[in-house]
Amino acid sequence: MKLSKKDFLSIRDFSKEELRTILDLSRKQKPLAKAFKLEPSHPGRVLACIFHKPSLRTRISFEISIRQLGGSSLYITDKEIGIGNREAPKDVGAVLSRYVDGIMIRTFDQEMIETLAANATVPVINGLTDLLHPCQVMGDIMTIEEHLESIEGKKVVFVGDGNNVARSWLNAASRFPFKFVLNSPSGYQLEDSYVEEVKKDENLDYEWIEDPAEAVRDADVIYSDVWASMGQESEKEKRLKIFRPYQINDKLMELAGRDAIFMHCLPAHRGEEVSDSVIDSKRSVVYDEAENRLHIQRAIIALLMPTDREL
Ligand code: CP
Ligand code: NVA
Repeated sequence: MKLSKKDFLSIRDFSKEELRTILDLSRKQKPLAKAFKLEPSHPGRVLACIFHKPSLRTRISFEISIRQLGGSSLYITDKEIGIGNREAPKDVGAVLSRYVDGIMIRTFDQEMIETLAANATVPVINGLTDLLHPCQVMGDIMTIEEHLESIEGKKVVFVGDGNNVARSWLNAASRFPFKFVLNSPSGYQLEDSYVEEVKKDENLDYEWIEDPAEAVRDADVIYSDVWASMGQESEKEKRLKIFRPYQINDKLMELAGRDAIFMHCLPAHRGEEVSDSVIDSKRSVVYDEAENRLHIQRAIIALLMPTDREL
């Protein structure tokens, strides 16, 4: 069970078979981890967790993941290293590799983590950039498979702007056979150049639809995220007005498939992109998604970090 790449920076870096390997391991280990029966496959390994943006889920789930594998973690903020200011990403990647066995990073610039990864000899994992949030979407696919059996043939509608989570969904749609719809106001869709690039891969079934009622029709999954991502705080007031018709509330959920589930990467701004009635409803699987971040990331770490033990 090996992945072809050293790093987990984007879903598009992996084949559908490799992504399936991650999902299968995550599913296999979930009950073992919950019952404290997981054999530690990576004793003594250290994962550096670098955060240039805040986090609840990503930080806690990565730090717990490596502990469950028998290792430990270091939490590092932008105050300590100063990547790109105090020290070049290239040197940070090379030096950190002499101390730790893996690096997880949440930051702004995707190119910076690519440079860091290219110069690190240990695995580098993307814990969110302005461009992508691949671990989130892998955990979400695991959640969909738990609730709807399979992602195959499903219609996933992302209601919100073409942001990092939406781009990772587009990437996932180029690897798994489902339909991905982005439902956003005009001007907030995914960049044409990005979509064209991903379209070069096989299997992509993607559509941008402006009208919420039309977009959610026959959906299996209605997915939501904040209207202003971390780093876009100054646009918040403007976006609140533009996105108001895109709130996921009971009325919009009624227009979706009868069995459609509601998903949100969290944190949610209740009363903005989603009503309390929807996020607290039986159709909402948001806490399962949050939990599955732990299981999917543990599988990603286990598959990327070398070990001679059985997984
Ligand atoms: N969904 C997610 O990544 O949450 P955090 O920002 O809390 O890590
Ligand atoms: N799009 C959001 C996701 C948070 C997990 C952000 O980048 O802030």
